[in-house]
Amino acid sequence: MLGAATEQLVCVTGAGGFIGSWLVKELLHRGYAVRGTARDPDDCKNAHLHALDGAEERLSLYRADVLDYKSLRPAFSLCDGVFHVASPVSNDPELVQVAIEGTKNVINAAADMGVQRVVFTSSYGAVHMNPKRNPNQILDESCWSDLEYCKETQNWYCYAKAVAEKTAVEEASKRGVQLIIVVPAVTIGRMLQSTLNASLYGVATYMNGTKKAYPNAVAAYVDVQDVALAHVLVYQDQNAHGRYLCIGDVLHRSKFVQMLRGLFPQYPVTAKCENDSTPMVKPYKFSVRRLRALGMKFTPFKESAYNTVISLQENGHIPILPHKSAL
Ligand SMILES: NC(=O)c1ccc[n+]([C@@H]2O[C@H](COP(=O)([O-])OP(=O)(O)OC[C@H]3O[C@@H](n4cnc5c(N)ncnc54)[C@H](OP(=O)(O)O)[C@@H]3O)[C@@H](O)[C@H]2O)c1
Repeated sequence: MLGAATEQLVCVTGAGGFIGSWLVKELLHRGYAVRGTARDPDDCKNAHLHALDGAEERLSLYRADVLDYKSLRPAFSLCDGVFHVASPVSNDPELVQVAIEGTKNVINAAADMGVQRVVFTSSYGAVHMNPKRNPNQILDESCWSDLEYCKETQNWYCYAKAVAEKTAVEEASKRGVQLIIVVPAVTIGRMLQSTLNASLYGVATYMNGTKKAYPNAVAAYVDVQDVALAHVLVYQDQNAHGRYLCIGDVLHRSKFVQMLRGLFPQYPVTAKCENDSTPMVKPYKFSVRRLRALGMKFTPFKESAYNTVISLQENGHIPILPHKSAL
């Protein structure tokens, strides 16, 4: 164990985002003094952070852009640890440079300010995109997405996260910073922020019926509160090192929409597959043994899906239709 949380000062980059907000909440709950970075801390999209329990006494927001090394230094000064969560989440080719340069700046600013430990938020997009993989293989922390395949298929998000993660490893090793990596799947669950992030936007398109058919595809999911907890568990375990897959369930999209329709039958969630003439893609398996060994338990997918939809309703991202819960 590291020193007691109550004696520690830590910084979260991208504090106002979906995952960043839950991580700030979890750290405050455990007694840490927390700094959060945002490109514009005064933007009303970050207002929810000030309302978190303990925020008044122990949270301060810093203006920083991960592309501006100098802006990161004051935020990291005197910190024991940094959680590097900030990254654009889209499939725009421009995100590649932001993710990689931003990560380089964060690791180097942390090293220059004497920060001992950095936790980097990667993505399972850095792990599973490999067409040559045996479909029966159980994916674990040794697996990497095929960068050439990501480029050929223009999957810039997966490419960016894989290269940013590799950059984090190289820079941390050069600079003597302890680095631990959390690798979450598609993250869903209750939102603390009011603006819509990319993964919840995906769910909203099914709920409001704008997505007219689902792909013959498989994805892995995890609850946002589990992702936040995973960051804290790896940070607090002195022996933690390397990658930790953070994945709750793997589902074919047909099962995903079936679950949404079962929980919320009053919404126009599509039941049509856009390419059902091809063989059904089989769900693959992941090993989350490393994270479980640190005490991690995952929220059931049904509960996360339910909380996601309620949260989308509460924040006005989907209309509230009369609710009939199947929970
Ligand atoms: N959501 C998922 O399904 C999922 C799954 C796996 C991994 N992840 C990873 O988890 C992290 C957070 O994702 P999220 O879903 O929480 O996204 P989000 O809600 O869109 O938050 C992204 C955060 O990144 C910050 N950011 C973007 N560009 C920045 C820049 N140039 N400088 C500083 N900050 C910047 C934004 O802060 P400001 O705009 O306020 O500055 C925002 O707080 C990302 O690293 C993402 O790759 C997400």
